[in-house]
Amino acid sequence: MIDLHNHLLPGIDDGAPDVEASLELARMAVVEGITHMVCTPHIHPGRYDNTPQSIAAALQQFREALASAGIELQVAAAAEVRFGLELMTGVAEDRIPFLGQWEGSKVMLLEFPHGEIPFGAERLTQWLKGRGVLPMIAHPERNKGIMRQPSRLRPFLEQGCLLQVTASSLTGHFGEQAAEIATDLLLQGHVTILATDAHNRDRRPPCLRNAVKAAEQLIGAQRAAELVSLNPWKIALDHFDR
Ligand SMILES: [Fe+2]
Repeated sequence: MIDLHNHLLPGIDDGAPDVEASLELARMAVVEGITHMVCTPHIHPGRYDNTPQSIAAALQQFREALASAGIELQVAAAAEVRFGLELMTGVAEDRIPFLGQWEGSKVMLLEFPHGEIPFGAERLTQWLKGRGVLPMIAHPERNKGIMRQPSRLRPFLEQGCLLQVTASSLTGHFGEQAAEIATDLLLQGHVTILATDAHNRDRRPPCLRNAVKAAEQLIGAQRAAELVSLNPWKIALDHFDR
């Protein structure tokens, strides 16, 4: 399996604080059956001011540590980009690392504020689309605005935005309501990928296997596998030499 949303890179956001923690999470990921990861540290102006340079440096450090520890996990990096007007400048100045590609567009992992979908957000996603950037909305099932009003997601689906659902949402880790929305989105065929969004060993570990089992019950084995293998590979292929 390949995981396209996680915070395993050492020391650059609220994920793994150092390389030892990164390695511990990497070992857990391998046990889960994950062979490849695109790490997605936060780019959140004023909170996590990551740049392509800071991300590349952390990736290099992680790769060297994985190699010397003999851990069979292939890693690459992109970012989880916080919604905000700053990202327009970031895109214009080519400072946003992309997750990969989907049907000719670049894919950006886009994070909305937890409590809401900001008013007019669909105008920014439309602006991105006009520049050949297709947003993949990170964990919509955990957004309070969508919990209050699931139809808030509709304009983004109509624009063709992709959706990433967090694996442990499906297995109830984020509560009943997130599980319900994740289930509905899955049954409606709106989910592009399942990903771990792993941050740490105890509260946010890199789990995927149980969510795949849950997805199999809902949509069948073949479609469940598409969410953790076929689709994420289609997006992230260029990150890896295979
Ligand atoms: Fe995340």
